[in-house]
Amino acid sequence: MFNSAMVFDPSEGISEGFLVPVVQELASQNLHSLPQRYIRSEKERPNNSTPHLDIPIIDMGMFMRDSDLCKQKELEKLGMACKQWGFFQAVNHGIPLSLTERMKAIVKEFIQLPLEEKLNYKIEEFEGYGQAFVASDDQILDWADIMYLTTLPQEERKMNFWPTKPVDFRETVDQYALEIQKLGNTFLCLLSEYAGLKADCFIKKYEKMTQLMRLNYYPPCPRPDLALGLSPHSDGYALTVLLQDDETVGLQICKDSEWIPVQPIPGALVVNIGDMLEVMSNGIYKSIEHRAITNMDRDRISIAMFYGPARETEVGPAPELIDELHPCQYRRFILADYMQNFLSGKLEGKKNIEFAKIKS
Ligand code: OGA
Ligand code: NI
Repeated sequence: MFNSAMVFDPSEGISEGFLVPVVQELASQNLHSLPQRYIRSEKERPNNSTPHLDIPIIDMGMFMRDSDLCKQKELEKLGMACKQWGFFQAVNHGIPLSLTERMKAIVKEFIQLPLEEKLNYKIEEFEGYGQAFVASDDQILDWADIMYLTTLPQEERKMNFWPTKPVDFRETVDQYALEIQKLGNTFLCLLSEYAGLKADCFIKKYEKMTQLMRLNYYPPCPRPDLALGLSPHSDGYALTVLLQDDETVGLQICKDSEWIPVQPIPGALVVNIGDMLEVMSNGIYKSIEHRAITNMDRDRISIAMFYGPARETEVGPAPELIDELHPCQYRRFILADYMQNFLSGKLEGKKNIEFAKIKS
């Protein structure tokens, strides 16, 4: 069964299916209270205590240096970040600032288009603009609007969902997608090396890879203390690269049972391990639960690029990482089956990876 979330069109009213409002429209009504469907249970609400811990910062420039010592030291930092945090911020990553700034600008310009225009790209089967992960009509909703686009491989793009406004939307996303692919390959090779594997163990040079883009728009929220912008979840693919607003904090990651905010660093990209890399590395690297909170008087955008093997690929732990001391923790499966399971439910912590876990 496919549960594609539909978008509430105010001119039509609510009819069948899991119709949910466009949050941006709700937010523009200057609500004084938060509608019931966005109010979280007490234990899910954002708390005020914000621990003073920063996620690791990796200087990608170090890998371009001639000095092996520099490279080795940074690789050690990267490996530890991915084992202990599952998250890091990449600086000096080589993607021009002009491109990342333009990416944020085209998203903001798209968001500001009239609703009728955005509804030309209304979400269907997990592509397009609206809301995803609505699995029932009594589910508590996220305070955000999103847009999903398949960005790679190029031949799988569904161009009818790619906005034509602003005029350079498509071209900018195309350029950015290719840059993120290069960077993603670099990370996967480095992480393979750190795990003691041949550099191409997590990515085969001639194999097709999949990349999916998710735009998140979090409008100002009348009660940020009661709502969440994005429910706790782990990401499904191998790696995620997130570009976020410099000014507004929203992303939080769960570390040792505490929610830690990720402070934006201008020009940096936030990178995290997804379920697939946890599986392929037989649990050396961990996908980490994260969520987004909202703000009362500010909106926020973020652009997540999910990157991993093609849908038809069979994935499982690298055989070199399995021995008597390190028993196989995950079964092998076809990625498309995992994704079907992932996309048909609501977002809920790390429950998806249970699909792959071998129970002892
Ligand atoms: C995501 C995600 C976080 C954010 O899109 O998967 O975790 O800060 N986004 O928007
Ligand atoms: Ni995520």
